[in-house]
Amino acid sequence: MKNIKEMKFKTLISEIDIATRVKELVKEIAEDSKGRELFVIGILKGSFIFLSDLLRLFNIHNIHPSLDFITVESYGSGKVSSGELKMLRDITTDIENKWVLIVDDILDTGRTLALTKEYFQEKKPAAIKTCVFLDKPERRINEFKANYVGFEIPDKFVVGYGMDYDNLFRELPYVAVLLDEKNI
Ligand code: IMP
Ligand code: MG
Repeated sequence: MKNIKEMKFKTLISEIDIATRVKELVKEIAEDSKGRELFVIGILKGSFIFLSDLLRLFNIHNIHPSLDFITVESYGSGKVSSGELKMLRDITTDIENKWVLIVDDILDTGRTLALTKEYFQEKKPAAIKTCVFLDKPERRINEFKANYVGFEIPDKFVVGYGMDYDNLFRELPYVAVLLDEKNI
């Protein structure tokens, strides 16, 4: 790992732009989920800040979601059918017939969300939707598309707003690109 003090960032998405977009996303989700029993599943750790912003905005729409978190690891190279999901922390509630929203920080290769969605599909929810704060479509190895996307970004490594480099920089209130040999 590099010396943290020597690391440089460039803001990619500002705090204001994040706040505006998150409000829009919640409005979309609220309209789609109206009248259903909404169950939100956050993928730790990256989604926790995005999810806490999302969650607090449901109140405006008079929606009261249930919440749980999972921790997963996904493996495999190539196609997602050959990938494997390791559920390190699972939910403890029954989601049968519920309107489930899986939330992650960033959709990259698509392996994590595709496998996670498959895993919960077997538990017979009424619907499963996926929501990501960022989407890097260039890196996708499958056909996976999220139902709700905050921002599409190019293939750059980003930190902040919950996202990390070696478990650091999650606390930044904006999204920044890490400037290194690859990202200059
Ligand atoms: P994938 O879609 O299965 O490749 O995995 C997405 C996960 O990779 C996200 O949940 C992040 O934890 C991590 N990730 C991908 N790109 C970045 C990035 O630019 N910064 C920080 N984490 C990333
Ligand atoms: Mg993650």
